Amino acid sequence: MERTLIIIKPDAVEKGAIGKILDRFIQEGFTIKALKMFRFTKEQAQKFYIVHKERPFYGELVEFMTSGPVVACVLEGQNAISRVREIIGPTDSEEARKVAPNSIRALFGTDKGKNAIHASDSPESASYEIPFIFSELEIC
Ligand code: CMP
Repeated sequence: MERTLIIIKPDAVEKGAIGKILDRFIQEGFTIKALKMFRFTKEQAQKFYIVHKERPFYGELVEFMTSGPVVACVLEGQNAISRVREIIGPTDSEEARKVAPNSIRALFGTDKGKNAIHASDSPESASYEIPFIFSELEIC
């Protein structure tokens, strides 16, 4: 069993898609181990996305992720990290609609920036991201 972190981003929360997105992962066989809604401060979002610090879109990304509440969730399942990445689809929602029309980013995102959902992309990312958001006591 493997654990991964997803974050339903402000655009998808605003659209009222929290339930549909969580249900999709449940239908796909994952177990929810932790769940919470919160709003990132600028400092927290900068630190969460520190690996992208040098990218030209870093400022835009931090601004978007602090623009409204998000929902973070720890999912558990076999090969959770790669399977969840497959289910969310490519980073750019416009591309996702062409190559993976049933993916979460195709269904609920807009473009590269407003792409509805984040998911850990490697075991190393999951080991940084899960304890960044959840304390040991919050993971069931
Ligand atoms: P996420 O999975 O949260 O990880 C990093 C995020 O950076 C990514 O999803 C996108 O939302 C964002 N991102 C990646 N490329 C771009 C881009 N070219 N312009 C704006 N945002 C981007």
